[in-house]
Amino acid sequence: MASHIWSKENQTGADETVQKFLAGKDILLDRHLFLFDVEATIAHVNGLSRIEVLSDEECQTLVSGLKELAALYQAGDYELNPPHEDSHSAIEFWLTEKLGPIGGKVHTGRSRNDQVQVALRLYMRDRLNSLQDLCVSLAETLLNRATEMHDWAMPGYTHLQRAVPSSVGLWLGGMAEAFTDIAHMVSMTKQWINSSPLGSAAGYGVNLPLDRDGVAKELGFDRVQINPQYVQNSRGRYELQALNALAQATLELRRLAWDLSLFSSSEFSFVTMPEKFVTGSSIMPNKRNPDVVELLRASHSVVEGALSELQASLSLPSGYHRDLQMTKEPLLRSFEQSLPALEIMTDLVANMSLKKETMHDAIDSDMYTTDVAIEAALKGQTFREAYKVAMSSDSLDSRTPEASLKARVSLGGCNNLGLDLIAQRLKKLK
Ligand code: ARG
Repeated sequence: MASHIWSKENQTGADETVQKFLAGKDILLDRHLFLFDVEATIAHVNGLSRIEVLSDEECQTLVSGLKELAALYQAGDYELNPPHEDSHSAIEFWLTEKLGPIGGKVHTGRSRNDQVQVALRLYMRDRLNSLQDLCVSLAETLLNRATEMHDWAMPGYTHLQRAVPSSVGLWLGGMAEAFTDIAHMVSMTKQWINSSPLGSAAGYGVNLPLDRDGVAKELGFDRVQINPQYVQNSRGRYELQALNALAQATLELRRLAWDLSLFSSSEFSFVTMPEKFVTGSSIMPNKRNPDVVELLRASHSVVEGALSELQASLSLPSGYHRDLQMTKEPLLRSFEQSLPALEIMTDLVANMSLKKETMHDAIDSDMYTTDVAIEAALKGQTFREAYKVAMSSDSLDSRTPEASLKARVSLGGCNNLGLDLIAQRLKKLK
């Protein structure tokens, strides 16, 4: 038996080194794509039977074979391993071994070029769904914690220097709004990429009246990606957009992780992380290290690196080129690293404890000077005059964080956080 689905009768044996190089990491990466590939193959086979390229009986045989393969894979009884070049070949080989030559009929009217794309599209849609859900749960958790501690005073920093009194409600509410925004962006990205590449074959269509619409519907796509060459030209660009949406989330995750690593240091001592998020040192018995938070912070570097890697693979003329295989790994690596990171952050935010007194006591009297200047401006001084004398006001020592926070009444301020408005926007995603 030929060793590749593309081998021909008269072809000389494959050079192992070259074959290994060609396959790259496909066989490992395709473990994340396999079930999507099978799902799309079922839709393709059903489509072929609707245009009578396959008989009903052939269609049923192939579809039940494919369903059996998916079940075996899910149960761990079928593994993707070399010598298969990729999941596409593995599916066809398995069908042919199990069902005989009819297995070779699944590829009628299809190329690996549209096959890989449809599997990737389904993978991206699935992972963007998870990303949206994870952003929503993180935002909800942040909102809950912000509500619970809405009036706990803490310093507001600019340049990492104490600036004005602020609150836990403002800090965590801001993070909640960020993840709400990002969840909306993910939802738009999902709609943008939800188009079916199947039926475009190698990039030029085929001489069959393929039911592209029916296949797209069966797979839950919103539309068919029309031009077959554009399907190939969009490979990598869709991935780039999915990664950009992910990068929005990991960028904000990095900021929150930064805040937590700073705030849990002895210098701040605002945050105590639950035991399971803290590690010890192999040499220093006294250490409680925030390794988990640091790895959460590092998730963004994986995505940022992947974005450059992906973009670098896209300097190509029209049509399919094997370079495009290189777009797969950065995409998969980023999602597989970052989605668990978002889940862990949600758990951490839900279970961390904050030190009310320490945060309150970190507000020193200089931090009221902006309030003093604005109050004087209200009484008739120009703000610039008031600004100049605020530092020498004799009211500074008698002021309290509570009074300062109470006066911030405009929308978003500490006494009007708008957490309910953020919650309403979040609800629209459900
Ligand atoms: N692993 C290949 C990829 O990701 C599959 C498509 C191969 N197509 C081809 N014409 N050689 O691009």
